[in-house]
Amino acid sequence: MSETPIDPTWLAAVQDKLKQSARIAALTGAGISAESGVPTFRGADGLWKKYRAEDLATPEAFARNPELVWEWYNWRRSLIAEKKPNPGHLALAALEKARPGFTLITQNVDGLHLSAGSRNVLEIHGSIWRVRCLDCGGCREDRTNPLPPLPRCPQCNGLLRPDVVWFGESLNPSLLEASFQVAALAEVMLVIGTSAIVQPAASLARQAKRSGAFVVEVNVEKTPLSSQAHAVLTGPSGLILPRLIEGLSP
Ligand code: OAD
Repeated sequence: MSETPIDPTWLAAVQDKLKQSARIAALTGAGISAESGVPTFRGADGLWKKYRAEDLATPEAFARNPELVWEWYNWRRSLIAEKKPNPGHLALAALEKARPGFTLITQNVDGLHLSAGSRNVLEIHGSIWRVRCLDCGGCREDRTNPLPPLPRCPQCNGLLRPDVVWFGESLNPSLLEASFQVAALAEVMLVIGTSAIVQPAASLARQAKRSGAFVVEVNVEKTPLSSQAHAVLTGPSGLILPRLIEGLSP
């Protein structure tokens, strides 16, 4: 990967903010996993350029053709299973060690933050590594790869679905409430690798700003949030995040 120059003034300003703050939050999106080789959703090579969300990521699509939806999720599970956390994920895990008040809110379902060692993680769009029974509601981790074309619940034999949030579905209310509370209490909010257009996640940064947080965007390109952030660091998160936490001690 080529070195991208990072604005040194902003970098130093954000480093200082992190040093002075105990309550730090981060919201991550697909961009943080891009350098691990996980495709993002939007952008030139994004998943939604090649696949139709209406056919693969809605409750109606699953009701119509669960085999097709599972085929797509089995493909994504096999792709993600080979991927490793990158320096961006690792920097956020290190930030949690240095600041126990750090909370990571992620829209990603790939589990790479947990693999990197982050523990205080709110997976608001679920996890591709969990399955949920449509009949008994039982939910558990299952890393079998691939799962059968129509996987069944070991408890009640009901049809299983991926435990992820699809378009048209609500987020888990307690996770959402916890996320807005984290945003409201944060002194610094890092918004990393997200197009900042999918709600309600996109509102978290605005909530943080309203409540007085210093909002920092880390992205390779501008987003609708850029004009509202206090600092915009443009470049790959795998390069920027390790720089941000340099010299941060507990
Ligand atoms: P998107 O694919 O919409 O956006 C990815 C963002 O990451 C873009 O703004 C890119 O510019 C940025 N990006 C790409 N590579 C990067 C890098 N190396 N470093 C930093 N930034 C980089 O993904 P999300 O915003 O996560 O929801 O999408 C939000 C939700 O929409 C997803 O959780 C998913 C999707 O449809 C559901 O499936 C419900």
